[in-house]
Amino acid sequence: MDHSAKLLWVLGLCVAVMAQQAAAVELLKGNLIGGKETPTGKTLINKVCSASPTKDLCVQVLSSDALSTTANLKELAIISLRVAARNASGILADTKVLIDDDELDPDVQQGLADCKENILDAESQLEDTIAALMVNSDGDAQLWLKAALAAIDTCDASIPGDDDILSVESAVFRKLCNIANLVIKQLANPTKS
Ligand SMILES: *[C@@H]1O[C@H](CO)[C@@H](O)[C@H](O)[C@H]1NC(C)=O
Repeated sequence: MDHSAKLLWVLGLCVAVMAQQAAAVELLKGNLIGGKETPTGKTLINKVCSASPTKDLCVQVLSSDALSTTANLKELAIISLRVAARNASGILADTKVLIDDDELDPDVQQGLADCKENILDAESQLEDTIAALMVNSDGDAQLWLKAALAAIDTCDASIPGDDDILSVESAVFRKLCNIANLVIKQLANPTKS
């Protein structure tokens, strides 16, 4: 090989190596970006609910809205909070009927009244949670939801036993709030999901 042929060969080799490196970088970039692509809708719902102790209910709740199929994490949080708030309204209506029963022991009646107050608080705290999310105050949202869960505890403590209608309903309500809590936690701290 004469001098210039050698030079050409080396140059060619350089170009080949550089092209390969560039391709590798592109591939790596593609993987990173592709892997970080945020899922939405059903994929996201399954991902979020995989961490739920009530997985079926979680999927059912998060899929219940017309926007569920395209929802991002924040939208899913709002969907779950609305379901929980609606549930609270239903419970409040039932509680009213229960309290109006004249045959009830005054102590039980008082307990039901206390519980009702707390479910009412929880319902408005859920609305506050939604409002906080709307303005991207994820930390506040977590605090409001925590307050709602505490109100459910107080309600439960004011009614004896756990197989009466209200206790059963409050247990479901708590599950709904816990689902919202799961979504909000992942929203506030996506790496821990
Ligand atoms: C609360 O939600 C549960 C689960 O979706 C449902 O079965 C129940 O009927 C609801 N209760 C009220 C009072 O809305």
